[in-house]
Amino acid sequence: MSTTPPIGPGFPWLAPLAGYSDLPFRMLCRDYGAACAVTEMVSAKGMVYHSPGTKDLLATCPEDSPLVVQLFGAEPEMFARAMDMLLERGFRYFDLNCGCSVPKVVKSGSGSALLRTPELLYAIVKVMVAKAGPGAVSVKLRTGWAAGDEAVFPVARELENLGAAWLTLHPRHARQGYSGTADWSQVARLKQEAGIPVLASGDLFSAADARRCLERTGADGVMFARGAMYDPAVFSHFLSDAPQAPSGPEVARMIERHAAYIRRFGRPEKAILRMRSIVPRYIRNLLGARVLRQEVGSCASWEHLSEIVERVAQAQCAPSEGHHQEERDGSHQG
Ligand SMILES: Cc1cc2nc3c(=O)[nH]c(=O)nc-3n(C[C@H](O)[C@H](O)[C@H](O)COP(=O)(O)O)c2cc1C
Repeated sequence: MSTTPPIGPGFPWLAPLAGYSDLPFRMLCRDYGAACAVTEMVSAKGMVYHSPGTKDLLATCPEDSPLVVQLFGAEPEMFARAMDMLLERGFRYFDLNCGCSVPKVVKSGSGSALLRTPELLYAIVKVMVAKAGPGAVSVKLRTGWAAGDEAVFPVARELENLGAAWLTLHPRHARQGYSGTADWSQVARLKQEAGIPVLASGDLFSAADARRCLERTGADGVMFARGAMYDPAVFSHFLSDAPQAPSGPEVARMIERHAAYIRRFGRPEKAILRMRSIVPRYIRNLLGARVLRQEVGSCASWEHLSEIVERVAQAQCAPSEGHHQEERDGSHQG
């Protein structure tokens, strides 16, 4: 029988992030204090049919714990088979994606489209709970399908009855993608109505955002998503109450650590390319970031990366200009 993973105001989570929350990134976030992490979304059907990308998505190691595997799909029988495979491999905690609004996912009836077919959603959760046991299954939701739709509230009650152990709410409706702002008042309402823990997601770009969100919503905990993508140290800032302006040496250490995890766990042939996309996010608040970014774009070896890291270590922090637009946009509508 499973106990639930750690949930509480002092246990910040790393959110599921397709294309980002892979094993190296999860390990980096754990170093900075993430109490629990969620995998990128994994297709239940893809698992059953051994689709090529699935193996990488499920890569893990003993220190990558506690870990929640997030599944998406729309066919209960695929979930039954995928859950058997995951349990056999030793995974303990599972989340159902009921929030992704990317057209490809929604078209197949998965992700946030499940909010429009609650009976199917319940059938999937029933299968997951029956396989994994109590305390092990959660659902990550949006508020509803379109503006004014508050499907999440009746749905949440039923999910609780079916044995969901906790819920996560990104309080935007599905059609909204990432536009507008996350409506934290919906998290507050869900927390009041639900008898199981509620994690808040949505517009948590900094430690201060997360503290404000907890205060305003009474949520049991927070999940950092884009906030962690741009600054994995957001977890330690949150936990230590430290001001959030990473210096050159801190950013350099962050890049080095991420590179080390990628070299240890990632695919060697893709490692440098991966670093080229990661480094620009981490250096964006440093003076001279534009020039450094150009150099990163041409980086083709670990030696070259080390030279760049040395220069990053000497860079000063730029005066804060608030959040960058790209940070708010989100390149993926999870
Ligand atoms: C690049 C990217 C990938 C995402 N992938 C997923 C995913 O696989 N599963 C999921 O449930 N949510 C996914 N999300 C949604 C996030 O987990 C989170 O709920 C959302 O970004 C709101 O939090 P934020 O405003 O603090 O970023 C993704 C978001 C982004 C930006």
